[in-house]
Amino acid sequence: MTLLSDDALRALAAGGTVLSYVALCAGTWRVHRAREARVARAAAALAPAAAGVRPVLVAHASQTGNAEQIAWQTAQALHTAGVPARIASLSQLQADELAATERALFIVSTYGEGDPPDAAAPFVRRVMAGEARPALDNLHCAVLALGDREYQHYCGFGRTLDAWLSRQGAQAMFERIDVDGGDAAALQQWQHQVARVAGTSDLPDWQLAEPFEPWRLARRHLLNPGSAGGPCFHLELEAPAGAARRPDWQAGDLVQVLPPGDGERPREYSIASLPADGRVHLLVRQERHADGTPGLASGWLTEQAAVGDAIALRLRAHGNFRLGDNAVRPLILIGNGTGLAGLRAHLKARAAAGHGANWLVFGERHAAHDAYYRDEITAWQAGGVLERTDLVFSRDQPGKRYVQDRLREQAEVLRDWVARGAAVYVCGSLVGMAAGVEAALVDVLGRDAVDRLIETGRLRRDVY
Ligand SMILES: Cc1cc2nc3c(=O)[nH]c(=O)nc-3n(C[C@H](O)[C@H](O)[C@H](O)COP(=O)(O)O)c2cc1C
Repeated sequence: MTLLSDDALRALAAGGTVLSYVALCAGTWRVHRAREARVARAAAALAPAAAGVRPVLVAHASQTGNAEQIAWQTAQALHTAGVPARIASLSQLQADELAATERALFIVSTYGEGDPPDAAAPFVRRVMAGEARPALDNLHCAVLALGDREYQHYCGFGRTLDAWLSRQGAQAMFERIDVDGGDAAALQQWQHQVARVAGTSDLPDWQLAEPFEPWRLARRHLLNPGSAGGPCFHLELEAPAGAARRPDWQAGDLVQVLPPGDGERPREYSIASLPADGRVHLLVRQERHADGTPGLASGWLTEQAAVGDAIALRLRAHGNFRLGDNAVRPLILIGNGTGLAGLRAHLKARAAAGHGANWLVFGERHAAHDAYYRDEITAWQAGGVLERTDLVFSRDQPGKRYVQDRLREQAEVLRDWVARGAAVYVCGSLVGMAAGVEAALVDVLGRDAVDRLIETGRLRRDVY
């Protein structure tokens, strides 16, 4: 275990406030609320088999659900082997509770630039960087760190948590396991260690995700000819013929695409359509490396693959960005660039539900080239699906202007919509847009009001 200083921890906690509304955001409340019933049911199902046997705590911190899924499988595996398990989100854990725990397995991912997932940020602030400094001498634990080697701070939060546990006196049951992009070998190693903790060598294999299937690239066209930005494509993909069941997803969900020759490293894209459209629509920007070569997945999807080719794809539920309870509320949909994909799916869902209290705030560079889905948006305005529309083109005037500037200009309208009970969905760039929108919301609504939106699941993000 590497050791991090208190200063480093405080910096991490402060870093959490860079995306601070997020810090409280997504995971904490929406996962908590949406899954409360499920957790209660599962807690009962995984309750101690015999009085006096203390359960193994399985704690997770997850942004888009991978870590949480593995936590459920871990708890289930322990239970199958006769070891009682208790599952909890890190956001629900208190310092004294942890100090009183004897065995714990932590399954955590890393976001932003080495940051904890949204759900873990309060735990970092309250427990890891807080005043309490729990003594964890009784705790035997292990950490599974999910991440991706392409990021500079590979498994950053898992490492930080691991180091903190060690510093507080916890004993490692086995070395931290880092998982690079869902690497099957690392997950098998974890499974093997969980079996050891359970005192068995005989646990059934976990099915970690649905298999990839050959979807057919049915249509592709360039959305922004002449743009100063990278080429952006609308893609349509058809489910494999003869699939056992009709593919199903909700607005807010993602797909994972596996480019050929890339082993186990899927890329994720927000789905821009609904099952009723009959196809998965994606909005994909062609990325280029510094040497001019195309990005592996985006190059494959936008250039190398031909219409008619098979694309290895699977659907991925993204509970944090679905409408859920917010389906009855007015919606403020804020995004930029390819972030319009997720917002488009939501607008399609709203059109289908006949719910017209929607405000779109979308940003790109030039109206002449980058007004994706212009006809659709115009039709939604005319048809009462969009009550308000703000298209903000950053380079159509002398000074640059972004969605966050428009939110500030429309402060009164924003306050009014929030007072009407609106939920806010943000989709697009993590760098620049997400922090800018956060700052604008805080300026207009105030920190406390923004925190309340987070706590009640009314502020959600899909940023990348
Ligand atoms: C916007 C974004 C930022 C990420 N930042 C990091 C990072 O800094 N370090 C890292 O190792 N992995 C990073 N990842 C990869 C995730 O940790 C990885 O995909 C993980 O499996 C997600 O698990 P979850 O669904 O439980 O949140 C990032 C992923 C995204 C989408």
